[in-house]
Amino acid sequence: MHSALSMRLDVLRRGIAQINGEMRTRMDLNSRIAVVTGATTGIGQASKAALEKEGVRVVNWDITDQADVYCDVADEASVIHAMEWTLAHVGTPTLLVTSAGVSHQAPFVETTLESWDHVVGINLRGTFLVARAVAGAMVAAGLDGSFVFIASINGILADPQTLNYSVSKAGVIQMAKVLGNELGPKGIRVNAIAPGPTETAMLARPLADDAYRQMVIDSTALREVGTPQLVAEVVVGTMKMGWVTGQVILADGGATLVTARAAARTVLNAAR
Ligand SMILES: NC(=O)c1ccc[n+]([C@@H]2O[C@H](COP(=O)([O-])OP(=O)(O)OC[C@H]3O[C@@H](n4cnc5c(N)ncnc54)[C@H](O)[C@@H]3O)[C@@H](O)[C@H]2O)c1
Repeated sequence: MHSALSMRLDVLRRGIAQINGEMRTRMDLNSRIAVVTGATTGIGQASKAALEKEGVRVVNWDITDQADVYCDVADEASVIHAMEWTLAHVGTPTLLVTSAGVSHQAPFVETTLESWDHVVGINLRGTFLVARAVAGAMVAAGLDGSFVFIASINGILADPQTLNYSVSKAGVIQMAKVLGNELGPKGIRVNAIAPGPTETAMLARPLADDAYRQMVIDSTALREVGTPQLVAEVVVGTMKMGWVTGQVILADGGATLVTARAAARTVLNAAR
């Protein structure tokens, strides 16, 4: 009863704000506080830098020495501690980027339970724990905001030998949809970004192989490997898009558009 009433008041309040022209089509990020997990390197680091350019105060939750506060996202006590530290030392975050992630590839029958728990634990359970902590603080304070979960095109495709990673990222995409729906009435937008192959530590080893790199380039419509900065642009853009929630945005240079079938047809047509 109480929550139904407060939801109606929320809708009414935002309706009045809209009539008064206060509602913006793009969220102003300036002076907001963001939690970015895994912001020490790669996509998280670039997202942190891009948000700081917008005037955001970013708190890096990571397991590295460069973190503002140590946080193992797979560990509930660690996430609760990071949240308490952030509230005490910085304030209530209203923006979140979950970039902490790991990948491990192996044939399915050789995938160990340890590898499954490690990858799914950080990528999926970690996103759940962190989003719950930040949303909890925002709802308690009555603040609106925006979450961006870093998923992967592997959460949409079905590449062999990537089961734990692909399943964890598909779960993250679904989490963005359910939370986008559930937290929408609170003014919290939740979206997922699915990057394609991006030049970071995670892909450094395979991309060091010239043949693999060329294959990645050839199988991407824009014919380039992504950079953390390109993905970070999408993170900031998504943060600002005031009318978009529960969506997965593919930041992949068109990697999901290119199919082996189409390439084979091109070869066939050329031979005619
Ligand atoms: N690089 C790619 O091609 C690519 C493509 C699609 C999606 N992604 C996703 O992007 C995200 C960022 O990866 P990246 O490519 O920048 O790799 P990265 O290895 O450079 O960054 C990963 C970050 O996560 C942190 N981290 C690892 N375990 C953690 C834990 N338990 N708790 C907190 N932090 C932890 C690391 O310290 C690091 O800062 C990941 O979720 C990854 O799955 C990457």
